[in-house]
Amino acid sequence: MKDYMAPMEGVTNFIYRRAYHRFYHPMDKYFTPFISAKPKKNLSFQEICEVSPERNEGMYVVPQILTCNADDFIRTAQLLKEDYGHEEVNLNLGCPSGTVTAKGKGAGFLAEPQKLDQFLDQIFSELDMKISVKTRVGTHYEEDWDYLLAIYEKYPMYELIIHPRIQTDMYRGVPRLGAYEKAVKRLKMPLCYNGNLFSVADYKRITELFPETDCFMYGRGLITNPGLVTEIREGNRPDKKTLREFHDCLFEEYQELLSGERNVLFRMKELWSYMAVNFTNYEKYAKKIKKSQHLPEYLSVVSSLFAEQDLVD
Ligand SMILES: Cc1cc2nc3c(=O)[nH]c(=O)nc-3n(C[C@H](O)[C@H](O)[C@H](O)COP(=O)(O)O)c2cc1C
Repeated sequence: MKDYMAPMEGVTNFIYRRAYHRFYHPMDKYFTPFISAKPKKNLSFQEICEVSPERNEGMYVVPQILTCNADDFIRTAQLLKEDYGHEEVNLNLGCPSGTVTAKGKGAGFLAEPQKLDQFLDQIFSELDMKISVKTRVGTHYEEDWDYLLAIYEKYPMYELIIHPRIQTDMYRGVPRLGAYEKAVKRLKMPLCYNGNLFSVADYKRITELFPETDCFMYGRGLITNPGLVTEIREGNRPDKKTLREFHDCLFEEYQELLSGERNVLFRMKELWSYMAVNFTNYEKYAKKIKKSQHLPEYLSVVSSLFAEQDLVD
């Protein structure tokens, strides 16, 4: 069985991945949030941090690329290989955000099958690297999936990560398991399941429905409960002390990396918007965390939450 951390822009950056890797069950792969491939543009400082081996020690990291231009994809992938030693890259065909899809990228690319086919043809013939793809199952209609499967099966994908929602689902509703099943039946390449794995029970349900699937990618469920995969793989639930240490590590690293307490608070508040529900009676603490303006005030609310409440079952 293989476990992957999902790319999540603004969340699963190198700081988060490093802290996670130190305190919880290690993932087989960590995917970077998407890097926009632009013509003739080198990586930004932030992007270099995401992909450089020095900042990602001990972890298998796969850079994810967002573009609908094959030349830009190839150029960026080659740069990632030559300058940072990456042998594998991932193509984003899932981002549902309007600003991305309006430019025909991310999930928006799925609406242009001919162009997508040509794009894949070019990158698979010109690049000597492992190329994996992370995809949704369509843009507006699940019926899109049939023609997408007919395209995907032509290419030697290193693996195909399927988030079985269509673009217009955004992150709402339940994954379209019928679409995932079609892929399991039809495609020969390795598949990875992604979507709504929030609990051990969710994981078990997917393994029961799809016993041939041996690869799982975790997003919001893992950010909500960083101990989720530890519990799935090791059978025991990490305690409150581990969560506190994990939190403190992130908090310290963000203070070192980011300038100004506003930026640090922004990152930490975003994490708590997922993590707070792990605690009993979390509502009033979550509100205070959201309202906090300064680091000491923030830390005092977090300390009270850890001291006064327990992790829920
Ligand atoms: C805040 C946020 C940022 C995301 N950023 C990316 C991204 O950069 N690249 C990507 O392929 N998917 C991105 N995703 C999608 C996740 O990788 C994942 O496919 C999605 O959350 C479904 O998995 P889950 O139900 O386990 O969360 C993002 C999702 C969220 C909520």
